[in-house]
Amino acid sequence: MKKNVRKAIIAGNWKMNKTRPEAKELIEAIKPLVADAGCEVVVCTPYTNLETAVEMTKGSNVRVGAENVHFEKSGAFTGEISADMLTEVGVQYVIIGHSERRQYFGETDETVNKRTKAALAAGLKPIVCVGELLWERECNITEEVVGRQIKLDFYDVSAEDVKKCVIAYEPVWAIGTGKTATADQAEEVCAFIRSKLADLYGDAAAQAVTIQYGGSMNAGNAAELLAKENIDGGLIGGASLKAPDFAEIVRAASKG
Ligand code: PGA
Repeated sequence: MKKNVRKAIIAGNWKMNKTRPEAKELIEAIKPLVADAGCEVVVCTPYTNLETAVEMTKGSNVRVGAENVHFEKSGAFTGEISADMLTEVGVQYVIIGHSERRQYFGETDETVNKRTKAALAAGLKPIVCVGELLWERECNITEEVVGRQIKLDFYDVSAEDVKKCVIAYEPVWAIGTGKTATADQAEEVCAFIRSKLADLYGDAAAQAVTIQYGGSMNAGNAAELLAKENIDGGLIGGASLKAPDFAEIVRAASKG
């Protein structure tokens, strides 16, 4: 199976940005610019904007994602949101294990695994984030780190379910820093992730999984990254907050 049979997915990760009126404005601007996209387009917004985003994108080709999900169905988990709460609103995707969650909110591979399984059980498509720290790259253990994350984050997830997941390779040193991994560096790790999936789930499942690159992807560098065999899309932070830039990345992915 080749790259062109996998679904190319460009997802915006808005992080903690945009009030509701601002979100409306951004979605209104994005919709016409990506209307003829040849790839899947997703906007992952803060919880408070999800309902607005779902309403505004009805009948369009833009899908809506959340930025996290809790693994329990309900209960005494102050501040958390369950998978059922997201699907009920009409959310289809959810980012899990973003490095900012791991770094600032104590997210571990164990909780990423639990969240991934809960999301799958509810019918959400998880975008599971993995990636090494700068010093881990400098110590030459990138593959060890990312391989471990893949193994733990997908523990006890079936091959059938893995195919429903998106994996975002996001080197932590490239996120929000303006320092993009080179296309070759990104491809090397994305290819490694696919080989790790093949070890765990067999070649057919590995070839079916969409693997995104994330970390300072922008309108200028997207085409080169997305041309690589194992880079099927992007998880876009900063550049997803500007409609023309986001649309340019979508265009690059549409050419594939
Ligand atoms: P960035 O963020 O594009 O601003 O580097 C990417 C991400 O954190 O998903």
